[in-house]
Amino acid sequence: MKLPQFLTLLASSKLGRLEDARAKHTGWLRPLVALGTTCALLSPSYGQEQGRQHVDAASGQQVFNNACRTCHTTKEGDNRFGPHLYKIIGRKAGSLPDYRYSSALKGADFVWDEAKLERFIANPDELVPGNSMKPYAGLASTDDRARIVSFLRSSSGR
Ligand code: HEC
Repeated sequence: MKLPQFLTLLASSKLGRLEDARAKHTGWLRPLVALGTTCALLSPSYGQEQGRQHVDAASGQQVFNNACRTCHTTKEGDNRFGPHLYKIIGRKAGSLPDYRYSSALKGADFVWDEAKLERFIANPDELVPGNSMKPYAGLASTDDRARIVSFLRSSSGR
């Protein structure tokens, strides 16, 4: 066999093998591409959802710092002018043994949940008339209230 002929043969057989390989791989390729597309379609919204919760808790901390931290911490046992708010969700109102509540809050017969907190932050006197959380005047922004509740939930590990 002459050299050019041999080369042609070699080339074509290589090509043939390449074709073979590609044919074999397309079997894998299609579901892979489909999977990739699915991930690409799903992941942005998944990321956004995670991101939003993160932003809520982070910006919640900021709003909390502005509106509540003068008088409250979220550290267990750390009472300041106001009682500490660690694990406030699920805690009975006015129930810390080492804090001197007003008789109004001490006598309040409910457990703090998110809805109660929301109402209290909006207007403390509407939920617990006669409480001594003064001169706090309420937070008008629904968004800010939701952010604070979200922060209180996350800072309590709930
Ligand atoms: C000016 C100080 C001050 C500010 C600002 C303040 N609080 Fe208070 N908070 C108090 C005091 C004082 C009490 C106790 C009231 C009582 O005994 O009647 C209290 C009580 C509470 C309670 C009841 C806790 C329990 O053990 O039942 C919650 C919940 C609460 N505050 C949440 C908040 C949140 C959230 C903010 C911010 C949006 C805030 N407070 C801002 C002073 C403050």
